[in-house]
Amino acid sequence: MSRYAFLILPSHNRVYADAAPSMARAELAVLAAALPDAVLDAGSVGEAVIGGVPYVMFEAGELSQRDANLLANLSSLYALFEVRGDLPRPVLQPVPLRRLDRYDADLLTILKYAGKTNEQFTKLLLNVTLASSAFAGEAGTRRLAVLDPLCGRGTTLNQALMYGFDAYGADVDARDIEAYAVFIQRWLKDKRLKHQAGFFPVRRDRRVVARRLTAQFAATKDEYKAGDVQRLDVIEADTSRIGEFFRKESVNLVVADLPYGVQHGGHAGGHAAGYVGSHAAGRAGGGDRARPLTRSPLDLLRTAAPAWAKALRPGGALGVSWNTRVARREEAAAALSAAGLEVLDSPAYLAFRHRVDQAISRDILIARKPMA
Ligand SMILES: C[S@@+](CC[C@H](N)C(=O)[O-])C[C@H]1O[C@@H](n2cnc3c(N)ncnc32)[C@H](O)[C@@H]1O
Repeated sequence: MSRYAFLILPSHNRVYADAAPSMARAELAVLAAALPDAVLDAGSVGEAVIGGVPYVMFEAGELSQRDANLLANLSSLYALFEVRGDLPRPVLQPVPLRRLDRYDADLLTILKYAGKTNEQFTKLLLNVTLASSAFAGEAGTRRLAVLDPLCGRGTTLNQALMYGFDAYGADVDARDIEAYAVFIQRWLKDKRLKHQAGFFPVRRDRRVVARRLTAQFAATKDEYKAGDVQRLDVIEADTSRIGEFFRKESVNLVVADLPYGVQHGGHAGGHAAGYVGSHAAGRAGGGDRARPLTRSPLDLLRTAAPAWAKALRPGGALGVSWNTRVARREEAAAALSAAGLEVLDSPAYLAFRHRVDQAISRDILIARKPMA
């Protein structure tokens, strides 16, 4: 067994404050179970202060490059070291890391708006969902498909694209989808990536039933020429209609940040809680546009989870975050079980709850679709 230590990204502390080390440890514990080669001892995960700076420590067998690459994607990880010698003055040997990231970081950071789910938290939720699926080992070698059925302005979609995955989304808020369409088309042009993109009405019986944003692009011209493209497909529609637009068993992961249910009833609370900038008062109620009203985030989950579960491939996983002030964990878990999913509740999965602000205590739930 060797000892390892990693530095937590400074921004991680800003997002989670006191909870930063425990969030990092919980994510590491879930990822550890998914590492194919190394025996990372989840029980050994702890914290230490070296040279006045806090590190997350763990013990593992020799880390293969593949293991190190998987760990490199931890949402909290800044730099990883093998620890030689004894505390308080050990020798820290840097472990080379190759992240999955395929594009410039501005894909994730340019868009700032009230109601945006923090991008580091989004990465954590995607990572934990991926690590809990049967596809965890395939992330770097196969193009997985991620669906965010409450995609807003695309924080999860962008993280999925960053990893080289296909990204599918839906949101009922026309302004969100429009803003995302403008952003992603501009970004593809600015980065001079070969692409095709469009935003158009979907008609049935000559009636417009939704709007759809699609894009195909690749990181290099050669990949694009060879048809090795990433796909983006986003629908402006109520999430319960997912089945009209996305095939059954077509995605590996479903990842969603539920409305937080504070300030407004709106369409199930909409963007009540802003994580970037101020609270988005008025965003959720939106009396100007007719939209289906759902009473609460929990009602939304109960109504929509069966459609989300249908879109998942067997072995796929679903990850949701929500405000525990408006729905208890057991209630949210029951909604996922009722949709035929297996909720994961080993100790690692129970350690993600953290405070966002006075009105929001956020938690995550991960559930798996059983193999056929
Ligand atoms: C917490 S926000 C997610 C924000 C998103 N992750 C982002 O960073 O932009 C919840 C989203 O759910 C959407 N929403 C609420 N009810 C919906 C419904 N019934 N169908 C589709 N989207 C809905 C809201 O419009 C909002 O964008």
